[in-house]
Amino acid sequence: MTCLHYRDNTLFVEDVALSKVATKFDTPCYVYSRGAIETNWRAFDDALKSIPHRICYAVKANSNLSILNLLAELQSGFDIVSVGELERVLAAGGDASKIIFSGVGKKKDEIRHAIEKNIFCFNIESATEAARIQEIAQALNKKVNVSLRINPDIDAKTHAYISTGLSENKFGVASQDAISMCQHIAAMPSLNLIGIACHIGSQITDLAPFQVALDFLFVTYEELKQLGIQLKTINVGGGLGISYQQEQTPAIADYAKMLTQKTSQYPVEIIIEPGRAIIGNAGVLLTRVEYIKHGQHKNFAIVDAGMNDLMRPALYQAWQHILAVNLHAGKKTTYDIVGPVCESSDFLGKERDLALAEGDLLAIDSAGAYGFSMSSNYNTRPRSAEVLIEGDKMKLVRKREEIQELFSNELQF
Ligand code: LLP
Repeated sequence: MTCLHYRDNTLFVEDVALSKVATKFDTPCYVYSRGAIETNWRAFDDALKSIPHRICYAVKANSNLSILNLLAELQSGFDIVSVGELERVLAAGGDASKIIFSGVGKKKDEIRHAIEKNIFCFNIESATEAARIQEIAQALNKKVNVSLRINPDIDAKTHAYISTGLSENKFGVASQDAISMCQHIAAMPSLNLIGIACHIGSQITDLAPFQVALDFLFVTYEELKQLGIQLKTINVGGGLGISYQQEQTPAIADYAKMLTQKTSQYPVEIIIEPGRAIIGNAGVLLTRVEYIKHGQHKNFAIVDAGMNDLMRPALYQAWQHILAVNLHAGKKTTYDIVGPVCESSDFLGKERDLALAEGDLLAIDSAGAYGFSMSSNYNTRPRSAEVLIEGDKMKLVRKREEIQELFSNELQF
């Protein structure tokens, strides 16, 4: 569900008109609803309350310090994929003992740093990574919790770029190697094998692949138990989709019910790593129409946000709803909503029917996840401001970048 609503033909996030945000902080600008983030996080927590569970928010979805801080206040855990994300979580007041470190390419320094900070667990993705963590932990004289990420070869039926649980994907260890790998890890003196994990993809809009993955994990759990390896955690990753274009997506409660039904039969803690389902529909990208251009075959609304600000349409052909901030009576025309970047892939939406004039504001909906966090400085464009709304208050949570900052690390030959 979107965090947007109209009042008297003006678009609001909570009790703040987006036109006010634009006047105060300029555009392009990401705007988030604190209430929506909290509601989504609590929906997972409430629906899982009958079983031991741990929600580790996937930091990559949106890593703004204020957002991490509000999740830390809710007692959330965090799923990270780099030492940069680790430092962000700690800077935002997150608890190291609730951090899971995922990712296929952890460098030695990153592993060392995470061990020194006493994180909760590493999700191991290969035999050599296990050996690497063992060696570093031993040198530091520590015993570290690890979980094995398995690739269950399940088709999550999502975009190919965000499907991660197929055997052709780089993630996890092959399912046929999982048991022997667990035995191998369990025998490593500095590693404490606490669980198994899988993450089959993102923007999954059907519960069936999750159910198959969960069943697979519990079959593996049973096999390991027979071999004398008793696991404590089952990590099902993230991936629950949101509705971008009126897709029917499973409610958080239904997803949690599925997890609860299966898991309650076992003495384990379930771990989930949701990103998009917590922050996706809690944020929008606010942009202004700079020019209206009538081409021979198409009409274009050229806005001040581009593919560097929101990459999803260019990278995944993602469809996100685009709404006028101030509704006016004019006749609707079909526009491609495009940015100022010098590429034809620089579009935010194609063939949208809107009544528009130059200077109008638009909101690109459901941009809270993988929006700002994937933005770049392409075309030497400063990254946008970010604003958090709470009731009738708006707070700048990231200043717009200054042009000088963009080349301040460069050295002239
Ligand atoms: N856990 C792991 C190990 C992951 O790799 C991911 C996302 C998540 C959890 C969180 O998944 P979520 O609940 O957000 O679906 N940039 C893409 C999405 C990439 C997802 C990468 N991994 C997009 O904009 O659609």
